Amino acid sequence: MSNTQNKIKIRSLGIYLPEKVLTNADLEKMVETSDEWITTRTGIKERRIAPPEEVSSDLAARAARMALERGGLNPQDVDLILVATNTPDTIFPATACWVQKKLGLSEIPAFDLQAGCTGLLYGMILAESLILSGSLNRVLLIGVDILSKITDWEDRSTCVLFGDGAGALVLERSEDKSGLLSHFWGADGSLGELLMLPGGGTLHPTSEETVRKRMHYLHMKGNDVFKHAVKRMGESALEALKKAGLDKAQVDYLIPHQANFRIIDATRERLHLSPENVMVNVDRYGNMSVATIPVALFELAESGRLKEGNIIVLVAFGAGFTWASVVYRW
Ligand code: ACO
Repeated sequence: MSNTQNKIKIRSLGIYLPEKVLTNADLEKMVETSDEWITTRTGIKERRIAPPEEVSSDLAARAARMALERGGLNPQDVDLILVATNTPDTIFPATACWVQKKLGLSEIPAFDLQAGCTGLLYGMILAESLILSGSLNRVLLIGVDILSKITDWEDRSTCVLFGDGAGALVLERSEDKSGLLSHFWGADGSLGELLMLPGGGTLHPTSEETVRKRMHYLHMKGNDVFKHAVKRMGESALEALKKAGLDKAQVDYLIPHQANFRIIDATRERLHLSPENVMVNVDRYGNMSVATIPVALFELAESGRLKEGNIIVLVAFGAGFTWASVVYRW
């Protein structure tokens, strides 16, 4: 297990959630679905939707400002802006550069990381290397997604699942016992087609045809994604715990990616945890992709339930497929 000299920790957290709430009752008026179907299959009751004029960097900059303020920092105190997102403002420049502009910063490096819903954890693992190598002192890591803008609102099998939001973390070297203890990460590109946005890239450049075929929206084989998510989330959490030299009985809180309550519950069972040890907010926000983990962590910390020394396991799975787990001592 890492000692105090070679760990990174979360100095502070911030979030931003759009005000507009879209309930299951609202969706019943838009597609052929029911509150009962959505609740029993996913656990989702409502989600937040960003207004049309807002872009990912707006949500990201707001979450970042909150994290910086709570850390007693100015934007000038960070050395890198790393944005994990699947819904960039533009294909290029990176959303991180738009965020840099909105924070009034210049010169420091800024780039995006795209790893499906696992982006935030991939970002933490990358930031750990950059900080511990001595390359950087402090990283502003933001997870943001406006999935409502890539959702096909005529497809009932996907439009009920997603929401919009952002979360930000300030990461730096730990001077005490708290911090990132271990991680486990992986990917399987052979399964990429099960969850993808096919249009607008070099595979299918935007054309009248791609738009007519609705290829600019997210497409998913829900059943297959479900099975792989359950398997990979459970396995990676156990692997990360093993690397930290900890047993699942020592876990105080599990913070899983919030895609679907049944996936969360299956992961919980794999770790033999009680429901009170698992953070769940998918009922209120739906699947906000990269933003789910920082928002869940923020809410757990705000609830006062997290105590110094608690062991937390963060687990994610997403498009790629990608997966990752991080073991963290609070
Ligand atoms: N309302 C009512 N009926 C619906 C709806 C809806 N919104 N959506 C689908 N149905 C119907 C289907 O048409 C199907 O009807 P049929 O049997 O007559 O053909 C029936 O419900 C069952 O459909 P399934 O797709 O088999 O339902 P399933 O139990 O698999 O649930 C779900 C679907 C909720 C999408 C599930 O597969 C799931 O959660 N998968 C994981 C998705 C996920 O989490 N993706 C993201 C992970 S990675 C990331 O976060 C990007």
